[in-house]
Amino acid sequence: MTEAKKLYIKTYGCQMNVYDSERMAEAMGGAGYTEVQSAEEADMILLNTCHIREKAAEKVYSELGRFRDLKDAKPDLKIGVAGCVAQAEGAEIMRRQPLVDLVVGPQSYHRLPEMEAEVRKGGTALDTDFPELDKFAQLKARPKAKRGPTAFLTVQEGCDKFCAFCVVPYTRGAESSRPAARILDEARDLVERGVREITLLGQNVNAYHGLGEDGGDWSLARLIWALDKVDGLERIRFTTSHPNDMTDDLIEAHGTCAKLMPYLHLPVQSGSDRILKRMNRNHTAESYLRVIERIRAARPDILISGDFIVGFPEETEADFQATLDLIEAVEYGTAYSFKYSTRPGTPAAERAQVDAGEADERLRRLQALLTRQQRTVQDAMVGREMDVLFEKPGRQEGQMVGKSDYLHAVHADAPNVAIGELARVRIIESKTNSLAGMLI
Ligand code: SAH
Ligand code: SF4
Ligand code: F3S
Repeated sequence: MTEAKKLYIKTYGCQMNVYDSERMAEAMGGAGYTEVQSAEEADMILLNTCHIREKAAEKVYSELGRFRDLKDAKPDLKIGVAGCVAQAEGAEIMRRQPLVDLVVGPQSYHRLPEMEAEVRKGGTALDTDFPELDKFAQLKARPKAKRGPTAFLTVQEGCDKFCAFCVVPYTRGAESSRPAARILDEARDLVERGVREITLLGQNVNAYHGLGEDGGDWSLARLIWALDKVDGLERIRFTTSHPNDMTDDLIEAHGTCAKLMPYLHLPVQSGSDRILKRMNRNHTAESYLRVIERIRAARPDILISGDFIVGFPEETEADFQATLDLIEAVEYGTAYSFKYSTRPGTPAAERAQVDAGEADERLRRLQALLTRQQRTVQDAMVGREMDVLFEKPGRQEGQMVGKSDYLHAVHADAPNVAIGELARVRIIESKTNSLAGMLI
């Protein structure tokens, strides 16, 4: 038997990239590779990249530059770029950084073992096609390893919404949903391997409309109800959602499906209707607030999370104030906020840019407000009883760390609780980035 070759994957960007990296590692396992945790040991390095903001994309080139010495020392080392930068820049990556042997876009990962064999013969390989197939069904996996208690599962990919700032419709392609039967098979397999909580992933996950097990078209809510019946699966989450796709059945599921966790990531980007229109979001601040109201009517304790962009082209102080007002109205439990980053090829790139210093100042004010809200929501957990799914040992002897239903990190003295166990906990203290709990 030949010795296993070593693969190092570094993952940037969103959770979908985390999921894709796992699938690539499994596929390469079938091609004789084992995964390692450092570039120095590797026979092949794969960077799974993100193109969402300029900084994310530029990081890739500085990282690649650092591999020069490694390649000098080990001429057989192969370097690949996968993910959204690969899709957006294609062959340009090899021109700009000749160290790169292989470029593979997110819809072509099933071809990775084949491409690896090509570059082993010398030369380069490039594939950034959008084939009409379920790439995950084509990925040949190695024997399945035991897993931790939580896992991601991609159910939907791509986006047809074309927000004026965003590269995702170009890097991930058109919206497409995986058939429910494949998702359910994968979920059952994950549960057999130790998973208790699954987060369904999609760039527009609530736009899911896949082929159902009954031959019909299933919504995300339908899929969640089917997953609800999987024995041993304790918790279901999904991300990321668009406000316009929060359908009645999904809102209702939040009130009636016990396995569906009370946490919703619902990006709004801005609270100004003028800016929302220029962003091509197709919703208003008011329609967003109405959706939140309906979700809270179905599930009063739900924790709301969001995404915000400040300094979008033409944003005035009044527009920004409208965003602060919306935040005050919603009361977010957590949020992600970004300074607008110009992405070549997107409609907003051509417009009048906001002064960078002004945008920095707005981001600071926005984040101060969001941090205050996050604190308030977290502090309000103190005294409450809730379930915690324990994931790993804590720093202190006998301590375990896990996540509450609301996705807060909780640590507790729990020497007899195993990893992957759900236990009832009373929250006793709210710390900077976590809660302290006591087993009941
Ligand atoms: N599909 C999701 C999110 C996709 S990207 C949605 O519809 O909300 C994740 C977040 O990155 C976005 O919600 C947005 O807040 C941010 N983002 C996307 N493009 C950006 C850009 N050009 N500059 C700054 N932030 C951006
Ligand atoms: Fe990007 Fe989300 Fe808008 Fe799609 S809906 S274009 S992924 S921000
Ligand atoms: Fe980044 Fe692509 Fe995800 S651009 S955020 S890795 S979909």
